[in-house]
Amino acid sequence: MAQKVTISKIFRFSASHRYWRKDWSTEKNEQEFGLCTSPYGHGHNYELHVTVTGPVHPLTGMIINLTQLKQVVNEIILQFDHKFLNLDTPYFEDKIPTTENIALVLFELVEDKLAAFSGLRLEHIRLYERDDLYADVRREGK
Ligand code: NI
Repeated sequence: MAQKVTISKIFRFSASHRYWRKDWSTEKNEQEFGLCTSPYGHGHNYELHVTVTGPVHPLTGMIINLTQLKQVVNEIILQFDHKFLNLDTPYFEDKIPTTENIALVLFELVEDKLAAFSGLRLEHIRLYERDDLYADVRREGK
């Protein structure tokens, strides 16, 4: 009876970003980041997969009420949706808003919010920047 069940929900948002390091020369930036250095940024339609785990409640048959999960994640996504991630959010002042870094930030934000739900854990986040590129962040350890 020690089966582990996860449930996943997909969320979408659109945002723009620019890859640029102030401490690097223009040449070095262009060499490393190519078209992503474009000064006014460029956008993506992101797809965020949020996977949580926890006990299946015997009365509801659910790990989490999906309305609550949507509320929690949508509140976070509001900070990112239709924003220029470099300047409109506080998360990328010192790091480049790559798919990897955005996924890491989202993991921390969602994990933090889910701490209020007893027994529930954020297991995994997958962030698609395009249909052929995504980053995964998994909970470390057990
Ligand atoms: Ni991009």
